[in-house]
Amino acid sequence: MKSYVNVCFLAILAFGDASPVYGGTDMKVRSAQMVNLLLDNAGNVNDTSVWDSLAEMTDLYGHRMTGHIQYDRSVSWVIGDAKRYPSFTAWEEPVTVNVWNRNTEYAQMNIPTRSPPTVDLPMLGLGQSIGTGPEGIEADVIPVETFEDLEALGNSTIAGNIVLFCADFVSYRDNAKYRFSGASMAEKYGAVAVLVQSITGYSLMTPHTGAMNPASIPGAAITIEDSKLIQRMYNRYNEAQKNPSIPNSEKFIKPRVKLVMNAESYENAKVSSNIIIDLKGSDKSDEIVLISGHFDSWDVGVGAMDDGGGAFSAYGALKMIANLPARPSRTIRVVMWNNEETLGRGMYAYTEAHKDEISKHIFAMESDVGNFNPWGMQVMGTDDAIAKLDALGKMFLTTVGGGNITKSDDPPDADIETLCNMGVTCGGFEPLDKYTQAIPLVPAGTEGYFRFHHTQADRMEVLDKNQLRANSVAMAVWAYILADQ
Ligand SMILES: *[C@@H]1O[C@H](CO)[C@@H](O)[C@H](O)[C@H]1NC(C)=O
Ligand SMILES: *[C@@H]1O[C@H](CO)[C@@H](O)[C@H](O)[C@H]1NC(C)=O
Ligand SMILES: *[C@@H]1O[C@H](CO)[C@@H](O)[C@H](O)[C@H]1NC(C)=O
Ligand SMILES: [Zn+2]
Repeated sequence: MKSYVNVCFLAILAFGDASPVYGGTDMKVRSAQMVNLLLDNAGNVNDTSVWDSLAEMTDLYGHRMTGHIQYDRSVSWVIGDAKRYPSFTAWEEPVTVNVWNRNTEYAQMNIPTRSPPTVDLPMLGLGQSIGTGPEGIEADVIPVETFEDLEALGNSTIAGNIVLFCADFVSYRDNAKYRFSGASMAEKYGAVAVLVQSITGYSLMTPHTGAMNPASIPGAAITIEDSKLIQRMYNRYNEAQKNPSIPNSEKFIKPRVKLVMNAESYENAKVSSNIIIDLKGSDKSDEIVLISGHFDSWDVGVGAMDDGGGAFSAYGALKMIANLPARPSRTIRVVMWNNEETLGRGMYAYTEAHKDEISKHIFAMESDVGNFNPWGMQVMGTDDAIAKLDALGKMFLTTVGGGNITKSDDPPDADIETLCNMGVTCGGFEPLDKYTQAIPLVPAGTEGYFRFHHTQADRMEVLDKNQLRANSVAMAVWAYILADQ
């Protein structure tokens, strides 16, 4: 199957009035021809280059936590790789970031009926958390499901204890508030630390880290399994207090955890980079179609899925376009953002450094919810722009996927937020669920993605070579059409 799109049909696909979003009025025949070449590569199982290059970089350097030496080494690897493409212009732009070092950390519970009684709780300190001091914090644990529960218990129950936020997974948006704000809420009631049930719907004893907002008490994530254990222990203990005659009541103890975290933070301690790679347009090179993913990761796993897959799908798309016989009119720019995982400093640095050319950004895309089978984009833009994108997606991407369009009222991804809010039409690229093939949850993300998110298991095996290539093809098609229309 060589030809996916009938070029003659395209010649009559005029978009009417000159669009303020895309500028052009007509689909060029050249675009359709180049898109067909890109689509030809979608089924080429021998092209595993996107996966292979991400594997090489992550095997060599590991994770890419912002402010860490491995981040910088990985940046150098990408810049070196990009320099091998004569048509690319690749450079770094400075971003000042905070440095957070996890250092040694652990959590333990004492359950005297076990032998030995000390039970290790796999945990991960939350990013930006303060440490506990070397002796750690040992206290009883009070589980709460919501902030309302916390408030209802109040100082009398909470003060001096560790609070466990144990809400089950509904969606990232519903659950992440406990990770972000649990410590700053619980400190108001005198809590000495917080534990958060990892934000995932599925666990093989895996803790999931992630950022927390500044607080005067430390925060850490524990597994679903241990969160449930603590809840059961708490409930049995309370039952036994009320009714000492229940069998085994003398064995039911309050859950009590020792938390040791040697985390350290240093404000504005490091200047590192956003990565920018341009493929100059053939005649309107001052106008930009931006495709992107974030380059930083957590310091567990290697950030293969979050967001190596997004960043390298965009980069792979640029390589595919560079190999075509004809360049599009506009410049296609890949951005690999720094510091998405905590403060978004990479985004702010970019919008500041490029403030004079924001109006030249025709479209901005980010992929940061996994790169499994491509599904489409959530787009923040005018109804007119969304209708055009919907028509283009259906025309070009039905075979590969990645062409479904839904409207988003809010910026669909974190690093394009400022561009979206400045009026650039922007799209959050989304995959089907890794396991169920369900269409993505609104606003973003699928349950399969959150099995691996911010864990030691975010390794290359999460990503599939053929799916990663399909993501690059879909992004390349979007970028080419929007840059050439
Ligand atoms: C992939 O490579 C194999 C072995 O070189 C070859 O037989 C096959 O035709 C190739 N497949 C495609 C789709 O190019
Ligand atoms: C609750 O405890 C905190 C910390 O111990 C204290 O600052 C606050 O005033 C207390 N609030 C009430 C209502 O007692
Ligand atoms: C839309 O999503 C479905 C799966 O839900 C997929 O089969 C189809 O290819 C997608 N369409 C486009 C145009 O990408
Ligand atoms: Zn991410």
